[in-house]
Amino acid sequence: MAGGQVQRPSMEIIIKPDYEAMSREAALIVGRVIREGPRPVIGLATGSTPEGMYHELVRQHRDEGLDFSRATTFNLDEYVGLAPDHPQSYHHYMRHHLFDHVNLNRDRTHLPDGLSEDIPAHCRAYEQAIVEAGGIDVQVLGIGSDGHIGFNEPSSSLGSRTRIKTLTQETIAANARFFATSEQVPRHVITMGVGTIMDSRFCLVLASGGAKADIVARAVEGPVTSMVPASALQFHPRCSLIIDEAAAAKLERAAYYRWIYDHKPDWQRV
Ligand code: F6R
Repeated sequence: MAGGQVQRPSMEIIIKPDYEAMSREAALIVGRVIREGPRPVIGLATGSTPEGMYHELVRQHRDEGLDFSRATTFNLDEYVGLAPDHPQSYHHYMRHHLFDHVNLNRDRTHLPDGLSEDIPAHCRAYEQAIVEAGGIDVQVLGIGSDGHIGFNEPSSSLGSRTRIKTLTQETIAANARFFATSEQVPRHVITMGVGTIMDSRFCLVLASGGAKADIVARAVEGPVTSMVPASALQFHPRCSLIIDEAAAAKLERAAYYRWIYDHKPDWQRV
């Protein structure tokens, strides 16, 4: 289905009552891609927002036999300088929230290597590995309060590929909650580019809470601009945003998005 025939002319906005309902809907969609694809390739995100989705995917594996054995995964990003066993590394996050609890073949889970000694070559190899896996069927994304996707901060080229980026002070401050002090937040990351993300066959963006309401509205209803990298998704042929009521609060046309969703033909439903 992720690589199916339906080409949506616009972003699909799915408004759910709360974080739990958002997480369940996201897991339903990702679970379906995993079930239906012969060799599903899933793009993964970290951060607070997808934690509930991972929890629900683990539950589907445990209670409903969701089989991850054919799946390949690629994460969006990793901090430069953090070893995979560092508690704040995204390698550690993924083991904790998903990999340790499902039957993924670890050889087919990929994250950028924050300790790489040749970062440009590593980034090229990461891009190549995505191509060799057949491309990403569904890319899960969160959105930063400054509009970043992956760690493509404002002013990132909308055609960018996997590379090193310097985090903005806003992102460092936002992510300081995971570290003892903000000085400990690495300044650099390796991230898939906006262009890499746009190559995914399906983008699934999650956002929850009032703190994301402004940026969700700018990304969905504002102009496409590298100042809000998530706005590039307006050009994606197949992008769904699943957001809760609080994150939807500043959308001018929320009633219209609900109307569209409620009247969606069955054949268009994921
Ligand atoms: C994480 C990532 C980031 C986060 C974003 C939102 O892999 O790529 O773009 O999705 O910073 O983070 P949370 O979900 O913590 O608000």
